[in-house]
Amino acid sequence: MKEEKIFKYLEIIRKIKEEEKNFINIEDFTAHIQSILKELSLKISFAQNKISISPETHETSKEDQLLINIIAEDINQFLENKNSLNLFNELAISLIEQKSLKDLLDHILIELEKIIPYTSANIALLENDTLNYLSFRGYEKYHVENFMKNFKPDKNFLYTLKTVIDTRKPLLIENTDEYPYWVFIPETQWIKSHLMIPIIYNNQLLGLISFDSDKPYGFSEDTIKKVSSMLPLLGVALENAKLYDELKRELEERIATEEKYKRSFYQIVKLASDIVEMKDSYTAGHQKRVAKISVLIGKTLGFSQDKIRILAISSLLHDIGKIAIPSEILNKPSVLTPLERKFVNMHPEIGYNLLKKIEIVKDIAPIVYQHHERINGSGYPKGLKGEEIVLEARIIGVADVFEAMTSHRPYRPALSMDLAIKELEENKGTLYDPNIVDALLKVIKEGRINL
Ligand SMILES: [Fe+2]
Repeated sequence: MKEEKIFKYLEIIRKIKEEEKNFINIEDFTAHIQSILKELSLKISFAQNKISISPETHETSKEDQLLINIIAEDINQFLENKNSLNLFNELAISLIEQKSLKDLLDHILIELEKIIPYTSANIALLENDTLNYLSFRGYEKYHVENFMKNFKPDKNFLYTLKTVIDTRKPLLIENTDEYPYWVFIPETQWIKSHLMIPIIYNNQLLGLISFDSDKPYGFSEDTIKKVSSMLPLLGVALENAKLYDELKRELEERIATEEKYKRSFYQIVKLASDIVEMKDSYTAGHQKRVAKISVLIGKTLGFSQDKIRILAISSLLHDIGKIAIPSEILNKPSVLTPLERKFVNMHPEIGYNLLKKIEIVKDIAPIVYQHHERINGSGYPKGLKGEEIVLEARIIGVADVFEAMTSHRPYRPALSMDLAIKELEENKGTLYDPNIVDALLKVIKEGRINL
């Protein structure tokens, strides 16, 4: 080969190296290389993530062909490294972006195909010796996608799985026809070479990444090296996903327990409410109806979920103090004597004293205590005025009066809705908080109260 020609090739290689340094994307890169190679009447083609170089004319010397091969190999090596690096970077970015694990793994398999040509590949997570195939790709070609979807083998199910899991080392089967432990079932008989690599993070085996090829010798020790470079990041991704799942499970359990407690708590509140009403047979269901009306008023006034909950519980228990009042007085069918009235009027205070001792309902004790106060100070037990009375107690006060008026009593018939409304309107601003009365009237007008 002439010295001049060798210099020409060296010059070409120098230019290609320069292009590699300035690499931005594959399209621009191959276009630039093409223009450089044109000087030697060479053309470049790009297929399956690899380039090949051939002379524009068919005549080429042995030496030329050798140099062409060296240049092509050099460029392909560069592209391969670039792809590995890209995959590593993208994986790191995906981790930061916290894509869903399934998306992340699917993405990894797509990117891996650029550096490892495979027929099919999958990533499985190991959970209590069972493999859960989270991501797989390429199986549709052999119509085994559904098989993969439902494939959840125990590690002992296949010799290959058990070997990799127990040894924690990659397993390369260059030719399944020559491998004595390959299981030839219809779903796998097309696989001619196979590679399985354990994903280890913090000394823990998290799962497996596997590749299949429908040709023998599809993978090599070199493939293991390529995949191994990105395994630590894959380990972090899987570990994150495991932690996330554990946290989610723990949270769900906690929510379920809390729900159970909440339900039990309401059941106990209702029980306490029913016990009082059993004693006072004339007012059966009174507290539940007051609770319904109070909640409707609270919602109209824009109460939060938490405040509605407190209002409902306070309403259900507002007369709990009646438990200490003799039944004869509560059930007396005629007008009470002043002394009997005094007894009955003690029920808010008794209720307060009962509830304030219980941690979980102590917030509602002051509401129960004040539900017979009136905004002009004419109520009991303290004769509080206006906003001295807590809002919830003012609401229950109005709901209580309205419910009592529209219900039957042994000593008087139920008042009509119109009369009850008239009573509320007449005393709006004197006995009752005007905003609360307006809210109740709105609810009635909307037909949301069925008595
Ligand atoms: Fe009461």
